[in-house]
Amino acid sequence: MQIRILAAAAALLLVAGHALAIEKITFPTRIGTVVFPHKKHQEALGQCRGCHEKGPGRIEGFDKVLAHGRGCKGCHEELKKGPTRCNGCHNGK
Ligand code: HEC
Ligand code: HEC
Ligand code: HEC
Repeated sequence: MQIRILAAAAALLLVAGHALAIEKITFPTRIGTVVFPHKKHQEALGQCRGCHEKGPGRIEGFDKVLAHGRGCKGCHEELKKGPTRCNGCHNGK
């Protein structure tokens, strides 16, 4: 019984996770648009925490400083995955 309830809860979470699987988010900047493959990050990292500390949605205070720090680039440096050079991120049309 207990197990069945847990399984149902897990299935619901999966559905909710899928509905929130935002494919891409773009940040237009004056040196070139940054295209952020959001869904790819969800899949690669397997969690929302680390980026979303207060639950899914817009990230309060997300800006250039955060993007060049732990919000984007810092994590790429730490994990040695993902672009760390300017034009690796600022390359969108
Ligand atoms: C690698 C970092 C990262 C991961 C992992 C991540 N997100 Fe995001 N997410 C972002 C960023 C950055 C934004 C844009 C924030 C902003 O502009 O304020 C965002 C935006 C969102 C938005 C709002 C989109 C909009 O346009 O309103 C939702 C909803 C969201 N994420 C859900 C999730 C969920 C659910 C997960 C986990 C399954 C997740 N995210 C994992 C970084 C991430
Ligand atoms: C918590 C760690 C983490 C954060 C934060 C993060 N990334 Fe990444 N990023 C990764 C990892 C891991 C990969 C490699 C994913 C793969 O190859 O499957 C990656 C890959 C990428 C790629 C290359 C995707 C491809 O198709 O090769 C781009 C572009 C990128 N990240 C942009 C961003 C931007 C822009 C942000 C901030 C809005 C960001 N990332 C935040 C971990 C992170
Ligand atoms: C890992 C991805 C990534 C890398 C690498 C990166 N940036 Fe950014 N940068 C971003 C994101 C995302 C934003 C947008 C932040 C926001 O507005 O919320 C941004 C914003 C900016 C802005 C602000 C532009 C404006 O219109 O206000 C400038 C300037 C900038 N970056 C220059 C650089 C330079 C120069 C480099 C290389 C030394 C660099 N960036 C490397 C992701 C990156």
